[in-house]
Amino acid sequence: MNKTLIHADAIGRSYAQGEAQVAAIVSATFLLKEQDRIAIIGRSGSGKSTLMHLMAGLDVPTSGTLMWPELGAPDTLLPEQIALVFQAPSLLEPLTVSENVALPLLLANFTGDIAAAVRAALATFHLQELAHKLPEELSGGQMQRVAMARAIVGNPRVILADEPTGQLDQPTGHALLDALLVHLAGTSTALVISTHDPLVAKRMNTIWQMDQGVLKTNVTSIEAV
Ligand SMILES: Nc1ncnc2c1ncn2[C@@H]1O[C@H](COP(=O)(O)OP(=O)(O)OP(=O)(O)O)[C@@H](O)[C@H]1O
Ligand SMILES: [Mg+2]
Repeated sequence: MNKTLIHADAIGRSYAQGEAQVAAIVSATFLLKEQDRIAIIGRSGSGKSTLMHLMAGLDVPTSGTLMWPELGAPDTLLPEQIALVFQAPSLLEPLTVSENVALPLLLANFTGDIAAAVRAALATFHLQELAHKLPEELSGGQMQRVAMARAIVGNPRVILADEPTGQLDQPTGHALLDALLVHLAGTSTALVISTHDPLVAKRMNTIWQMDQGVLKTNVTSIEAV
């Protein structure tokens, strides 16, 4: 039986804009379970990134209830259990690729062989050659793949990847997704990716659509987004 990892009940997120409140998320209700493979599609500005930040516990809903039944209450949420791959570049500039990928393990007081875990994560995305490079020496697509290696290195329960193939040409993007899905096969890790690429979305088991801040979880056909 797959356990529920994230439970959202009518969550919303508004921002103050002068006197007015602008809703980035009007309403989202969903369960995220172990082994889920979910794509979030939707137009630019529809609220995909906002939703993923809420799911990661990086941001707090302004209405509704958000819970992580397996991972702790909001104030005790275990961040090492949820890996978020940001849409924008997020590698730390002074650190090498290997050091960036090692970070989640250091932050989680990992007691195993850090160097071996980093090598394995880099190998998953064919990044061994880049291990000693600095982020400024990488292309945008290479940075995105390094961020993905950093997301898997600690074997999190949830991976949230915000447009992970956005900087990649389509074959490279699909190869990255292949590597990720092979890596996760047989694990209980839940994967959520946001994407504008219908072919990427179709590789997931379930498609959610953000439509002007409203999350639809019963999407059966993909329109161009
Ligand atoms: N910190 C913020 N303050 C004010 N408004 C915000 C903030 N963050 C996001 N928004 C607004 O919330 C809405 C949703 O933004 P979000 O980044 O979640 O969209 P998105 O679906 O990820 O878009 P894209 O496909 O372009 O990445 C947008 O209208 C955006 O301007
Ligand atoms: Mg976004």
